Amino acid sequence: MTAPVGVASWQVCAACGDVLTELDPRTTCDCGGLLEIRHRPPALQGPALRELFEKRWGLHDPIDASGVWRYREIVLPTAADPVTHPEGGTPLLSRPAIAEWAGVPDLRLKHEGHNPTGSFKDRGMTVGVTQARRIGARAVACASTGNTSAALAAYAAQAGIPALVFVPAGQVALGKLAQSLAYGAKTLLVRGDFDDCLRLVQQASDSLGVYLLNSINPFRLEGQKTIVLEALQQLGWEVPDWIVLPAGNLGNTAAFGKALGEARALGLISRLPRLAAVQAAGAAPFARSFAEGFAARHRVKAETVATAIKIGDPASYERAVRAIRETGGLVLSVTDAEILEAKAVIDAAGVGCEPASAASVAGTRKLAAAGTIRPGERVVAVLTGHVLKDPGVLIEYHQKTEPPPPRANRPIEIDATLAEVERVLRK
Ligand code: F0G
Repeated sequence: MTAPVGVASWQVCAACGDVLTELDPRTTCDCGGLLEIRHRPPALQGPALRELFEKRWGLHDPIDASGVWRYREIVLPTAADPVTHPEGGTPLLSRPAIAEWAGVPDLRLKHEGHNPTGSFKDRGMTVGVTQARRIGARAVACASTGNTSAALAAYAAQAGIPALVFVPAGQVALGKLAQSLAYGAKTLLVRGDFDDCLRLVQQASDSLGVYLLNSINPFRLEGQKTIVLEALQQLGWEVPDWIVLPAGNLGNTAAFGKALGEARALGLISRLPRLAAVQAAGAAPFARSFAEGFAARHRVKAETVATAIKIGDPASYERAVRAIRETGGLVLSVTDAEILEAKAVIDAAGVGCEPASAASVAGTRKLAAAGTIRPGERVVAVLTGHVLKDPGVLIEYHQKTEPPPPRANRPIEIDATLAEVERVLRK
């Protein structure tokens, strides 16, 4: 299809090719297909565009200070007054203890837990809520395993738009549920799983005229692209060999693929890293499809300790398939035990992350052990959420599990006497 004349951005249906304007309030095409945002290429490209991004880093204006709006030319160029915290600007860490455990000496950790609500969802939500305000949405809604709802609640509060969130009752980590309540979202605890919540919120937003801000909303993905852009910028635009990320509903996998394709087309990078999407073994329909050469889409009843990625029927399946194919990537799964061990290693290095995030390091280790990640290759693993998101899993691991896991750090209760302290320290 050809670009509409005279506009900066527009939406295209990935299924039927229909074109929607940038301010069209529909979040999916009438044919049921998912929408994708396209932008007219910016005036500056290649080294000149890199220089523009470089100049903005460290400026004080919130728009430049944001690790999302720093890249506004390729995120949402016409957004004049974004709803920004600001967000992004997250660190790219090197930690020898984690690298050694993973078997990848040149391992970098892009820690998205450093975002304002503690997960990468803030990058998508600053764009999604900005778009909600631009189209005059009277309310916004999402289904969530907890992080999307926390981010939506915070950004909607900032924008002054009522937020409605649907989360699976009893399956959301404590920190996330607490955030949604604290930021003032109307929080519905749905008796069902995430996949039930997503179906319900889609029906509800259709019939109530509420703007849907799940990652099927293409504006969310434009924001999430900046995880990759910012990591590349932090590496001086030297392309790593691999980018490894946890995968649930597959919005992020899709966003990463789009970011990389666009970065190459604009001359920001000259080759693509391979994407490795890591699922929890009990919630791995995408890994199963990959193993079959993407011959079929699968749906499963999801079960995993990593509640963030406890998803059986990922919504962004098709566009994530494209991301894996276009980057020569792969999809794998890791067990809950592998996730918990990786998390214990990441936590004990003083970095910390939530269980789902640790899947990326567990996956990295598995790929290195299999020789798929080769010696000397550079890997960026994305830590998607903060350690305090899920205190329940931490307490269970360190304090309650019997027998104690090898890396458990049991607390020791004592009487308030010096003798007791000495007794414990002598042990
Ligand atoms: N890591 C964390 C911490 C997440 O919260 C999520 C998704 C993912 C990884 C997977 O990303 O869905 O784009 O493949 N959380 C969503 C939520 C589903 O509702 O917060 P994905």
